[in-house]
Formats: sequence, structure tokens, C-alpha cells
Amino acid sequence: MIRFEGIWKSFGAKPILRDVGFHIERGETRVIVGQSGQGKSVTLKLICALLWPDRGAVTVGGHVLRRGDREALAYVRRSVDMLFQFGALFDSLTIRENVGFVLYERSGLPRDEIDARVAECLEMVNLAGIEDHMPADLSGGMKKRVGLARALIGRPEILLYDEPTSGLDPVTADLINDLILETRSRFGVTSVVVTHDMASAYKVGDRISMLADGQLITTGTPDEIRATSDGRVRQFIEGRAQGPLTAGAVAEG
Ligand SMILES: Nc1ncnc2c1ncn2[C@@H]1O[C@H](COP(=O)(O)OP(=O)(O)O)[C@@H](O)[C@H]1O
Ligand SMILES: [Mg+2]
Repeated sequence: MIRFEGIWKSFGAKPILRDVGFHIERGETRVIVGQSGQGKSVTLKLICALLWPDRGAVTVGGHVLRRGDREALAYVRRSVDMLFQFGALFDSLTIRENVGFVLYERSGLPRDEIDARVAECLEMVNLAGIEDHMPADLSGGMKKRVGLARALIGRPEILLYDEPTSGLDPVTADLINDLILETRSRFGVTSVVVTHDMASAYKVGDRISMLADGQLITTGTPDEIRATSDGRVRQFIEGRAQGPLTAGAVAEG
């Protein structure tokens, strides 16, 4: 479903990705972990064509992404959804307007059809009937579910989650993990989850890859990652300051 072949990406003189290759199967949830500044968000942006590689090919759903290829770009815009800040809603809009936002703004679909899809998506996240509420009426967990409903309304094939649990208490974080798992089992979406929360990585990932020094240094199932003897991976999953990982790599997020 997603394939990187020989991907290089630099910003100015600073190489971020150096010859990265991987593929993600349809329906898989792939977790990408790594220290801040290692190119995890850049990787997601390459998948949804917000950035372009300097070299190499990104293929998504069988489309090779090339600048100016309108068909491939239309496919990505339609099929890939990036969840940035899970559940950041527009405070002054109702839940109906929040969930249906993109469709009301640009789809040209009749209003009652969009209303029906909003209702369907709210039902999918177990929040049927809350269309007329305002975000301020909802708990934090409910807002996250609404955020997911808003992503699902476009019927995406691929969901990209950028640090979905960062800054959350462990209970709310686990609620997000459950939502990611539920979304996968109910809709069969292919997902890429970028995180440095190892509890979340182990729980939601079919496979986990670690990005370090511009390369994917390992990929394995949660059990394989737990059992790895690779020093850099061990240092990361155990969260130790001392070890073979480049200390200077601890840059901004
Ligand atoms: N659009 C950009 N322009 C210049 N530098 C960027 C841009 N996007 C990311 N970078 C740099 O690339 C590196 C990797 O960024 P990023 O993928 O956001 O890291 P992370 O692994 O923390 O998500 C960082 O050093 C960041 O400053
Ligand atoms: Mg990032």
C-alpha cells in the first residue's frame, strides 16, 4: 500500500533521510519510532505529498508520487488523511459542522446527504446523536473521537497519525490506542503511527520501525522489537541517556 524506495531528503545541507526503503501492507498498522528530529514527520509528509524526496520513489496505493502528476495527487488527497492534533476542533462550530467541515465547504454534495454521513461517522465512533452539541460540551476523550469521525468522513484508505498520544495522560493515551485499533479492525485502513511512546507502539503496531541517523535501522513485530539485541534500539526502547545513539540528534520535534 505504501512503498519507499531509495528515498533521500535533505533540508539545505542537512541530510534527514538517507536511502530509506520500506513497504507497508494494505491493512497494516506500522509504527515509526525514533528520537526527535530524525525525520518521522518528514516521512509522513512524503507519504501524503506535502513534501517531495530529493531522490527515490514513493508509491502510495499503486501510484508513484511525482510532482505534477495530477491523477496521483488527486488519489492521495482523496485517500490519505493526516491526523495532526487529534481532536483539535473548531470551538465556535457545532459537532455537525466540525465533522462535516470539508464536505460542507467543498464537496458540493447536498446538505442532507452530508448530514447523513456526519451521523454515520459519529455512530462509528460511538457518539451517535451529538450533532448539535458544541465542543465545549464534550469531554477530552469525546473530542478525540469527534476528531477521528472528522477524518473518517472522507473514507480514507490510509490514516497517518503524528504523535497521537503525546502530551496526554496515560489513560487518555490508551483511549487513543483503542481508537486506532478499532479503526483498523472496523475499516481495514492502512495506518502509519509516528510516536515515541513505546507503550502505544507495542499496543497498536503490527510492525514497528525505528528511524535513526537517516535510516530505518530496524523493523519487527512488537515481540521482535522487545527482544532485539541492537544497541541503538535497546537504548531507545529502554529510554536511556547513555548508549550508542547520537546525543546531538536530540533536536527539536
Ligand atoms: N520544511 C522544512 N524545512 C526545513 N527543515 C525541516 C523542514 N521539515 C523538517 N525539517 C527538519 O528536518 C528534521 C526532521 O524533522 P521531523 O521529521 O519533523 O522530525 P521528527 O522525527 O521529530 O518528526 C528536523 O531537523 C527539522 O528541523
Ligand atoms: Mg515530528
